Amino acid sequence: MSLKVAIIGATGYTGIELARLLLRHPKVEITAVTSERSAGEAFSKIFPAFQGRLDLTLEALDPSTIAKKAELVFLGLPHHEAMGAAKAFRDLGLKVIDLSADFRLRDAATYEAWYGQHSAQALLEETVYGLPELYRDSIVKADLIANPGCYPTSCILGLAPLLREKKIALDTIHCDSKSGTSGAGRSAKTELLFCEVNESFKAYGVGKHRHTPEIEQELSVLAEEKVVITFTPHLVPMDRGILSTIYAKATGAMDSKSLHSLYEKFYAKEPFVRIRPLGVFPATHEVRMSNYCDIGVHFDERTERVIVVSAIDNLTKGASGQAIQNMNLRMGFEETLGLL
Ligand SMILES: NC(=O)c1ccc[n+]([C@@H]2O[C@H](COP(=O)([O-])OP(=O)(O)OC[C@H]3O[C@@H](n4cnc5c(N)ncnc54)[C@H](OP(=O)(O)O)[C@@H]3O)[C@@H](O)[C@H]2O)c1
Repeated sequence: MSLKVAIIGATGYTGIELARLLLRHPKVEITAVTSERSAGEAFSKIFPAFQGRLDLTLEALDPSTIAKKAELVFLGLPHHEAMGAAKAFRDLGLKVIDLSADFRLRDAATYEAWYGQHSAQALLEETVYGLPELYRDSIVKADLIANPGCYPTSCILGLAPLLREKKIALDTIHCDSKSGTSGAGRSAKTELLFCEVNESFKAYGVGKHRHTPEIEQELSVLAEEKVVITFTPHLVPMDRGILSTIYAKATGAMDSKSLHSLYEKFYAKEPFVRIRPLGVFPATHEVRMSNYCDIGVHFDERTERVIVVSAIDNLTKGASGQAIQNMNLRMGFEETLGLL
């Protein structure tokens, strides 16, 4: 029997990506899709690419109605909206995979400092951070999974081997990340209009982007001490993809070959992390619509800095693909099922 799932916030970019991937998943049936603005319309009327594949009628978010049709929900809602929905679904006994930031930060005070009030703090206790490469053993038992952010996925996977093996000075980490515009969601914003974005390239959220504490939280766990980073995101004129270029000073003797072996060994058994050959670096189009995080590494002997280039698709490994990877783990399905 198929697992019945609902996509909450199905008309957003992560919701559409969930629909695209889940329709090909052999053990899942999508039984409900929600939207506030388009409730009552067929999903395939709003998105004709899904005609004949997902013709369900979009419904307004009513947890008790959805609980009658689904066992697991994906929340593709804006932060602050997700926390109330997560609580309602957990109270009704459903498994929840939340794609928003609402449960990613373990410390409620840190959440409130960066995002504002948190009204479901009690649930933070039971939440597992859904980065399979680091938390697989906990994800298999979790009923509330906080799916990581897109930039954090690229930066944490890019840095994990160096921190675990204590190879870099913790106060020298710089993450320079670039994202396509789907990273900002599907709602209309002037700064995301074609004429504002096309043929242009800019930094934003400099020194204050909300993904900073999430990246620092996970790097600190890996390093077993507090890590503070410089993180600068950029907006590039492409629809999807994230490329993070990461710099840090080595603490001891290093060369590109040993650095490369460290990464190959660390990720040897990971189905969705690929290390490029020495001297080769990934591009966003090489991971487009796939669940891979591709990584290239180099040791710059002149500056004694490690340079790591990490590429993901923000909507797949950075959001909906990773959410399905988490669902697979939680439900005991093969981890790679339905994913490329
Ligand atoms: N985009 C990415 O690359 C990415 C990556 C990782 C994580 N995330 C996170 O994932 C979440 C979804 O992102 P997204 O890019 O898919 O956002 P989005 O394109 O803006 O979509 C938001 C969805 O939530 C629905 N919605 C908005 N306000 C609502 C409310 N008050 N009640 C019920 N439904 C509501 C919208 O429905 P209607 O407008 O149709 O009513 C839409 O379906 C966000 O928290 C985001 O930070 C996004």
